[in-house]
Amino acid sequence: MGINVGGDDRIQDIVEAEHEVYEPPASVVESAHVQKWEEMRAEAEADLEAFWAERAGELEWYEQWDQVLDDGEAPFYKWFVGAKTNLVHNALDRHLKTWRKNKLALIWEGEGGEKRTFSYYALSREVCKFANVLKSMGVKKGDRVTIYMGRIPELVIAMLATAKIGAMHSVVYGGFSTEALAERIEDARSRVLVTADGGWIRGKTVNLKEIANEAVRRSGYVEHVITVKRTEQDVEMVTGRDFWYDDLLGLPVAEQRCETEVMDAEDPLFILYTSGTTGKPKGVLHTHGGYQVYISTTLKYVFDLKDDDRWWCAADPGWITGHSYIVYGPLILGATSFMYEGAPDYPYPNRWWSLIERYGITVFYTAPTAIRGLMRYGDSWPNRHSLSSLRLLGTVGEPINPEAWRWYHKVIGREKCPIMDTWWQTETGGFMITPLPVTPLKPGSATKPFPGIVADVVDEEGNSCDPNEDGYLVIKRPWPGMLRTVYGDPDRYVEQYWSRYADQGWYLTGDSARKDDDGYFWIIGRIDDVLKVSGYRLGTAEVESALVSHAAVAEAAAIGVPDELKGNVIHAFCILRQGVERPSIDKLKSHVRSEMGPIAVPAHIEYVDSLPKTRSGKIMRRVLKAQATGQEVGDISTLAD
Ligand code: PRX
Repeated sequence: MGINVGGDDRIQDIVEAEHEVYEPPASVVESAHVQKWEEMRAEAEADLEAFWAERAGELEWYEQWDQVLDDGEAPFYKWFVGAKTNLVHNALDRHLKTWRKNKLALIWEGEGGEKRTFSYYALSREVCKFANVLKSMGVKKGDRVTIYMGRIPELVIAMLATAKIGAMHSVVYGGFSTEALAERIEDARSRVLVTADGGWIRGKTVNLKEIANEAVRRSGYVEHVITVKRTEQDVEMVTGRDFWYDDLLGLPVAEQRCETEVMDAEDPLFILYTSGTTGKPKGVLHTHGGYQVYISTTLKYVFDLKDDDRWWCAADPGWITGHSYIVYGPLILGATSFMYEGAPDYPYPNRWWSLIERYGITVFYTAPTAIRGLMRYGDSWPNRHSLSSLRLLGTVGEPINPEAWRWYHKVIGREKCPIMDTWWQTETGGFMITPLPVTPLKPGSATKPFPGIVADVVDEEGNSCDPNEDGYLVIKRPWPGMLRTVYGDPDRYVEQYWSRYADQGWYLTGDSARKDDDGYFWIIGRIDDVLKVSGYRLGTAEVESALVSHAAVAEAAAIGVPDELKGNVIHAFCILRQGVERPSIDKLKSHVRSEMGPIAVPAHIEYVDSLPKTRSGKIMRRVLKAQATGQEVGDISTLAD
C-alpha cells in the first residue's frame, strides 16, 4: 500500500524470524500471574468497563467512581468519572499502613559507585519535605513544575512531591539542551524549575545549571530555581531566585508530614513533551485516575512483579518509560526498583552486568540500541558475571532486530528468560502490544495486544489488512492510560490522533505494522516525520529548527537513515544564506548540541544549493532519503523542478 518508509531491512528481519517460536519455560509459566491470557483478553473485550473496573478495584480510592468510561465527548474520553484519588496515595501512602513501610522502594547507584537506598517510609518522608517546600513557594493544585536533572533520586522525589500537592510536573530529559528546555518551560508556563548543579556521565560532568540558567533567561516564566548539589561544580546562583535544595530541606517549613491533595480522577498528573509530525513538541497530558490503573496493571501482568523481585528499568525518568515504569508503576505495586545514574559501559562494558549480579536483579528492561551497543563488546563481558538472578527480560523503544533479540535471550537470559518486547508510546501511558510471560515468542515481534486493547493494522480506507500486508497501526477502543489531550492545544490532539479515522473513532499511532498468519504484530516503523535515534524520539522539525537558528543557515532538511547500532541516525541538508562564510560542519554540529542536546546532533551534514520540494513547497524527504541511502528515488512527478 505504499507506506513502507524505508523499512526494507525490517521487512527482511520479519520474514526471517516469522516462524522462529520460543515457548516459555515451565518455571516461568507456573509462577505467572495470568496463565490463560487468551481468556483474560476475551473477558476484557466482552466487557471493557467491567474489566478495568475490576483492575481499578485493586487500588485505593478516596471516593469510588460513578462511571467507568464516559465517551460522551469523544475523543476526549474520561475514565473513572466522579472518583477521588491521588496517584501518590497508591504509590506511597497506602504502603505505609502495611509491612511494606520498611520495604526498599528504591535502590540507587551513582556512576562513581555511591549507593543510596530508600524504604517506602524514607521515600515518603523525603517527598513530604519537598512537597512542603514547593507549597511554601506558592505551588498549588494545577500549577506546573519543570524538572530537569540527571538520573538521581531527587528527580523521583521531585516528581512525587509535585504530584502529591496536586501540581503537574513536566520533566525534561537531562540530555536536552538550552532551547529544548526553554521551549518546554514556556509552553508549560512553569514558575518553578527543579534542577541540579550538574550530572555525571562517563566520568565527566554535564553543566545542567548553566543550561538551566540560560533557558530560564530565554523563557521568562520561572520565578524560582531549586538546585540539587550533585557534582559540586561552581555554578551561577541568582539571589532571590535560586535556592539550594539541601538548604530548603533544612528550613522549618520542610516538615515531615504533608497531606496528599485529593484529586478528581481526571485531574492532570503530568505533561510530558514529545515530538510530533510538525512544529514544536507537544505536551502529552496524563491524569491521576486512569493512568495509575493502567500502568500498575500492565506492569503487574507483563513483568509479573512479585514482592521478592528486584526490578530494573534502565530507561531515564525523563521519558515516558521512566515515568510509568521506574517511578509510578513499581511504587504502586509496592515493588523494589533499582536505578543507576550513568552509562552502561562505564568504566567498562560490564557495568550493567555487574550491577545485575551485585543487586540480584530479577527483571530487567532496556532498549534495543543499548542491547546492540553492549553486544558489540562481545560475550566475555557478560560471561564474567552470574546473571542467574534474572527471570524475565524486556525491551522497548524501537523494533528489535532478531540478531540482537537472540543475543539478549542467549547471552543475558541464558535461554531461560522470556523477553517482553513491549510496544507503546508516550501517548499510550503504558504497554499496548506486548507478550505476557506465558506467550510463545518470536524474535522481533511485540506479539499481541494487552487484554482490553483492541489494535489492528488497516489500510487508507480503514479495512483490516491481510496477514503479512503492511498498513497503519490503529487502536480501536479507548483505554485508561491514554493521553487526554495535548496541553493547551486540544485541536492538535484531535487533528494528530483522531482525524485520520474520525468516522470510525480510532486512534492513529503513527506507526506502520503488519500481522503475520498467527496474528502476531510486527512493528515496522514511523510513517511520519518522527525519528527514532537510539530509541529517543525526535521530530525532523526540531532538528531543522536548531539548524536554521544558526546565523549562516537559511534552510534545512533532516531525515533518518538506518544505522546498525542506533536504529537511525540523522542526516541533514542545509542551504546557506547568501554571502555568509560557510561554518565548518563541526561548528554546526556543536550549535545543534547546545540548542537541542547531543541526541539531536546529525551524524552527517551536507551543504546543498537547493532542496527537493513539491510544487506546494513541502520538502520531499523521500527523495533526500533515497539519495542519502543510495536507493532508487521512485516517483518524482510531484517534484517542483
Ligand atoms: O515507533 C514506535 C516506537 O517508539 C514510538 C514511541 O516513542 P515514545 O513515545 O518515545 O515512547 C517510547 C517508549 C514507550 C512508537 O510509536 N516503539 C516503541 N516501542 C517499540 C517501538 N517500536 C517497535 N517495537 C517496540 N517495542
